[in-house]
Amino acid sequence: MGEISSKLAEQLWADILIHDDGIDGTGGSFANLIGPFGVGKSTLLMQAAQLTRHLDYGVTKTQFWQHPERYEVIPETVIMKGLSDDHWNTLIPKNYKNSFSNYGKPKYLTVHIHEDDEYRFYEVSRGTKRKINHEINIRTYQDGAQLHDNIRLEAINVVYEPTNYHLTTAILKKLNQYKLKSTAEKNELINAPPELFWFEFIENLCRQADGTHCSLILDEFHLIAPAYTQGDTFHMINWLAHQMIHMRKNNISLIASTHEENLLDYRIRDRIVRKVWFKGALPKTSMVKIQALRGLKDIGEAIIEERQIKFGKFSFDKIPEQPPLLKAVA
Ligand SMILES: Nc1ncnc2c1ncn2[C@@H]1O[C@H](COP(=O)(O)OP(=O)(O)OP(=O)(O)O)[C@@H](O)[C@H]1O
Ligand SMILES: [Mg+2]
Repeated sequence: MGEISSKLAEQLWADILIHDDGIDGTGGSFANLIGPFGVGKSTLLMQAAQLTRHLDYGVTKTQFWQHPERYEVIPETVIMKGLSDDHWNTLIPKNYKNSFSNYGKPKYLTVHIHEDDEYRFYEVSRGTKRKINHEINIRTYQDGAQLHDNIRLEAINVVYEPTNYHLTTAILKKLNQYKLKSTAEKNELINAPPELFWFEFIENLCRQADGTHCSLILDEFHLIAPAYTQGDTFHMINWLAHQMIHMRKNNISLIASTHEENLLDYRIRDRIVRKVWFKGALPKTSMVKIQALRGLKDIGEAIIEERQIKFGKFSFDKIPEQPPLLKAVA
C-alpha cells in the first residue's frame, strides 16, 4: 500500500471538497462513500453540501495546497437528489446555525419539484409528524432545461425528480442511435423510471456549462446507476458514463454514496477514483482490506482512498442538534 496517515486523510477529504478549473487544473472530481446502513454516509454528505468550495479561475489545486492562505475559496453550487427519507432539513438556514455554527455563512437552500407534483415535507419524530413546507423555499420546474435555469448559484439545490417521468424527444433520438427504439412513434410518451430524469438533467448541465462550478450530491447513488440494467437503461448508463468526462472538464463534481460498490454499474463505479470506506463495506476493487475496516469505530471513522495510491484514516462527528428525519410525501 502507499502512504497511510490521518493527516493525509484530512487532506484527501478536503481535496474531495475543493475544486479547481478543468482547463488549468483537475476540474470536477468524483468521490463515492461506501458502507452499510447507518454508518454516517448521509451525515457526511450533508456536511459536504455546506463545505464544497472552488478556487478562482487560474488557481490550481496544486498551487492552493502549497499556500492555502494566499487564495480565496468560493462557496460552490450544490445540486442534491432529494429522497423520500432525507436529512436536508438540517441545511435550512434556521437549523443551520445550530448545526454548522463554525462553518461560516450558510449556503441558501432551495427545493425544486416538478410542476405536476405536489409534495408535503414533514419532520418525523417520536410518532409525530410536523409539516414544514412553510419553512422551505420551493420552486417548480417543467423539464431538465428549466430546472437548469432555476438552479440557484452558490446555494444548495435539492431536486426531486418528476414522479411521472417521460423520456424527451432528444433522449428518444439518442436511444434510436442504438437502434433500440426504432419503433417509437413521434410524440409517443415513453414512461420511464423517475431516476432517469437525472440523465437528462446531467446532460443539460454539461451541454450548457459555462465553467460555473457545481457539485452533484447523490445519496443512494445505486438508485440512479444500478448494476445489472438491461435494454435501453443499459445504454443510458453508457451515455451517463460518457457524460462523466464532460463533467470533469466542465467543473461538475460528484459526491455519491452507496451501501455496496457492486450495487453500482461498473462503467460508473470504475470512473470514481476517490472512495470513502466505512466499517462493514466490502472493498472488492481496492487495496483497502476488510480487516482494516474492521478496526474502525462503528460510526465516526472511515478510510479515504485516492486512486489506490493514497490512503488515510478519517474521523468525523455527528451533526450537532440535527433536526428529526425529513419525510417527503408526493
Ligand atoms: N460521528 C458520529 N458519531 C455518532 N453518531 C453519528 C455520527 N455520524 C452520524 N451519526 C448518527 O448515526 C445515524 C446514522 O447516520 P446516517 O443517516 O448518516 O447513516 P447512513 O450511512 O446514511 O445510513 P443509511 O445507509 O441507512 O442511509 C444518525 O442518527 C446520525 O446522526
Ligand atoms: Mg443515508
